[in-house]
Amino acid sequence: MSPQSLSGKRVLTVGPALAALATGPLSGAHIEAAGLERLIGISAADTDLILIDADAWSPPSLAAAVQALSLCPAPPPVLLVGVHLPTAVVRGLLRMERSDVLDAPYAPEVLSAVIATLLEAKPARAVQAAPTPHAVEVARCWAVIGAVGGSGATTIAIEVATQLCARQTKDKSVCLIDMHLADGSAAAYLGAHPTLRLAELGAAAEKLDAAMLQAFVTPVNNQLDLLAAPRDPDGFEAAPREAILRMLEVACESYDWVILDMPRHRRGWSLEALGGCDEVLVVSELTVPALLAARSLSDEIERDLGSGRKPKIVLNRLASRMFGPAPSMAEAEKALQRKAEAGVSSDWEAAAASVNLGGPIAMHRPKSKIVKDIQTMVERLAAQPARNAVKAA
Ligand SMILES: Nc1ncnc2c1ncn2[C@@H]1O[C@H](COP(=O)(O)OP(=O)(O)O)[C@@H](O)[C@H]1O
Ligand SMILES: [Mg+2]
Repeated sequence: MSPQSLSGKRVLTVGPALAALATGPLSGAHIEAAGLERLIGISAADTDLILIDADAWSPPSLAAAVQALSLCPAPPPVLLVGVHLPTAVVRGLLRMERSDVLDAPYAPEVLSAVIATLLEAKPARAVQAAPTPHAVEVARCWAVIGAVGGSGATTIAIEVATQLCARQTKDKSVCLIDMHLADGSAAAYLGAHPTLRLAELGAAAEKLDAAMLQAFVTPVNNQLDLLAAPRDPDGFEAAPREAILRMLEVACESYDWVILDMPRHRRGWSLEALGGCDEVLVVSELTVPALLAARSLSDEIERDLGSGRKPKIVLNRLASRMFGPAPSMAEAEKALQRKAEAGVSSDWEAAAASVNLGGPIAMHRPKSKIVKDIQTMVERLAAQPARNAVKAA
């Protein structure tokens, strides 16, 4: 494409280094320079081409932005360039009708040629007012992560998933995924048999779809499905990062709600998994070391996601008898240097009974304060708009 052929075209450049292209391959175009947030809700009516510099953004923020783009009913053509093109981002991008990627360094003529091809491509689908079927199929995803071992993350993830189930009218709308691939406890707590065979998942990743995912799922009840691997000391190495991310992607397309029980030690896929979540809940107990760990973990996640979103802190096992929950919460918030999102009462009898009998506390001890506290938190969080414009509001 000659520079003249871009004349009058509107090009949105996302990444400061792309400004230099204005006098080269993009000359003649009307250029709007913007950040990733500009991609939310953008449509072909706003610009003729989006050019993204992958090297300018962290992979999780980029993945989230590409996901937002893919949810647009009529996205403009998108070209991603860069030295580091994260696989999950590229995969997400290429699922859009008019998109391409270009490894840097590239010759200006190559960039011009790729742009020309993209601009010539006509959208196969008529522009729809309603979201595409793909857009409709993306779950709201919340991650639960313990600040220290034993803080109650798995317990809270299970109860949150159970409360979400109670809000749904259709079957099989919630999936709990135990991301502790070596020694998760969600299956044991639920009295369920874990059937996520990681080596098979790794082998099938490229062609994994909703139907195939079902082979790895353990049904817990009419509403809730569980994805959890059997104990295996090498579990974290048993499937490559791409396979784990693909599993999450397909799960998000298959359910209305996905809850991740996340390990607190970071894995190769952790940031991308957290970056795709609407909420990250950091669970802490009321001890000074746990609160300090919660503060650090939350800060690290916020910093490394780079999206400006903050994890929310849930204080677990609030003792209500002797001292009352209020002073404990206030002191905890002082140590955290922020407000906690919610507090969950302590009820050892209910927690122990439910894990021993196998199943959520809401099933075995529905009157427990734990159930009430988590219900209140879920109602509040679910009422907030989803970050990813999705169906299950
Ligand atoms: N609110 C609570 N009250 C009483 N016991 C709890 C509460 N939350 C969790 N527990 C218990 O604390 C222990 C650790 O919980 P778990 O969910 O396994 O923590 P984590 O997943 O963070 O390691 C379990 O025995 C669980 O039953
Ligand atoms: Mg756990």
